[in-house]
Order: sequence, then structure tokens, then C-alpha cells
Amino acid sequence: MSGRKIAVLDLAPASEEFREQFIAGLAQMPRTLPSKFFYDEQGAALFLKICELPEYYITRTEMQILRDSGPKIADALGRQIELIGLGTGAGTKTRILLENLDSPIAYIPVDISKEQLTQSTAAFSQTFPTLEILPVCTDYLQPFELPTPIRVPSRKIVYFPGSTIGNLEPSAALTFLKKITTMVRPAGGGLLIGVDLKKSKTILERAYNDSSGVTAVFNLNLLVRANRELDADFDLEQWRHRAIYNEKAGRIEMHLISRINQSVGVGDHTFTFARGEHIISEFSYKYSPEDMIALADRAGMRFEKVWTDRHRLFGVFLFSLK
Ligand code: AVJ
Repeated sequence: MSGRKIAVLDLAPASEEFREQFIAGLAQMPRTLPSKFFYDEQGAALFLKICELPEYYITRTEMQILRDSGPKIADALGRQIELIGLGTGAGTKTRILLENLDSPIAYIPVDISKEQLTQSTAAFSQTFPTLEILPVCTDYLQPFELPTPIRVPSRKIVYFPGSTIGNLEPSAALTFLKKITTMVRPAGGGLLIGVDLKKSKTILERAYNDSSGVTAVFNLNLLVRANRELDADFDLEQWRHRAIYNEKAGRIEMHLISRINQSVGVGDHTFTFARGEHIISEFSYKYSPEDMIALADRAGMRFEKVWTDRHRLFGVFLFSLK
């Protein structure tokens, strides 16, 4: 199967969806934009830069856990599995996992970024020439159909890395975990999930307000994207980024804050912002191990194992269908 060219199944949301959800999000109070729209080509590239920041420990720590505990994780997952990756992006973490797995029969990466999916699929097909790869470009939060590999796996495992679960409000996270249980049926199926753990406000706020301002550019890029794709006229000079940790809710909140009183056009719509008014562009929920285990339990999954780093910043949890 080497030298093969693998087509990406493209179910990516149309720009119409961005328009509708962007306008609806600005019309509601508090103004809230869905964070999935961060990941256009520039946004995906900026996120990769975030992952390199000294303050942003998340990606680095998950990768370290996968490296250090790779053999143990692979052992717990078993041989000849079908691996479904949700939001695997550039695939850096999944690569480590695949390198450790014993004879996986198929890898199905599902991601909203077509560029990253195409590139990672091309690279993986070189490294793993006998692995069947079935990439799907879609918003995995929406209903979609999974392709069926040629060979029958011993079990299906969803890998949901990067603490992306944190982007979902707890009720949506529960619904999504339930949906994952249907993806990995029948019995024996499982979920390997990377989760950012609760920790001090200082460490968390530093990770999302980095000193080189990359996260600010990433956040503001949402407005740049709206200017380009939605015929909006956000003046980038008049907005700033701020992330705060809401301890009570257990989440980081990314804000875009208006520096002045201003009106902004988005296509045919006009929105008025007072000085200091904010738009919420992302929630990033943090979980204690107990929080995560309780949530998965409610979704019908049994806790098997957790691997963590020595500072307990991050957890990679394995659950199986009850
Ligand atoms: C990709 C959702 C895990 O919440 O840490 C990084 C995105 N936002 N810096 C996160 C993000 C700002 C990230 N996730």
C-alpha cells in the first residue's frame, strides 16, 4: 500500500454554517462564538505555535505521557484494534500512539482541518505502509458516518486527544461521550481520552495568556477570519485578548474585549459593543480525575486506567464500554 494517495472524505462545514453561527453567537448574551471556528488554515498553524510555547504545557505533557507510557497504553489497548482519532489535527500525538500499537488494522482520523488531515494522512501512509487509513474531514460534533475498514478489528478505540473535551460544556460533554459509546460498539470498545487536569489559577492563566502573545493572535484570528469570509469589518486594533480561569466553573474563558465603544458590521448585520464589553470565544474546562471518571460513568463507560505526568498536569484516561 506504499506510495498510495489517500483521498480525504470531505464533509467539512460550509461557510454558511460559520456565518449563521457567528451571527447567532454575537446576537446572544453573553456573546459567545463557537471555538471550532478557530481552526481555519491560519488558526490551525497558530495553534501549532501555541503548542510550542513554554507556558502551554498541555500538548507537550500529553506527548510526554504517550512516550513514557506508550508500551503500557498499547498493552492496555491490545492488538489489531481499529483506532478512531477525533480532532487529531497534525497527528503528532497519534503518531506516537500508533508507533506503540501492536498491529492496528485501521486508523480513522476525523478532523475539521482539511489541510492537516491531508498532510498527516500522506505522512502516515509513508510511515505505516500496511495500515489502512480512512480520513474523514468533518465537524465530529455533528452526526456523521464512520467508514468501515476492510479487516475486522479486535475492538474499536476512540482516541480523543488534546483535552478538546474541555471545549464542551459539561452537559454537551456528557452527550458527546454517549455518542462515542455508540462509535466503539460492540462490547470491548473503548475510549482513550487526553484531559487537562485542574491545577492552580496561576499556571492555567499563564498557559492562555502567553508572554509572546501567540494566543492573543490565535484568538483575534477569529475576527480576521470573519472579516475575510463573512464580509465583517472588525478593526483589529480595537480588540484585545484576555483569558481568565473561572474557578467556580472550573474553566478557562477566552475573551475578545472591545477597547472602545464601537459598531461592527458582519455582512448585513451590525453589532454594537461598549468599551470593555467582551465576546467569549472559548471555554476550556478542566477536570479532576474524579470529575472525569464520574462523567464517563454517567455516559456508560467504566474506568480502566489513567496515565499521568509527574506533576499531574494532564491525564490520559482509558475507559471501556460498560
Ligand atoms: C485545543 C481545546 C485543547 O483549550 O487548551 C489553546 C485550545 N485555546 N489556547 C485548549 C486553546 C487557547 C485548546 N484545545
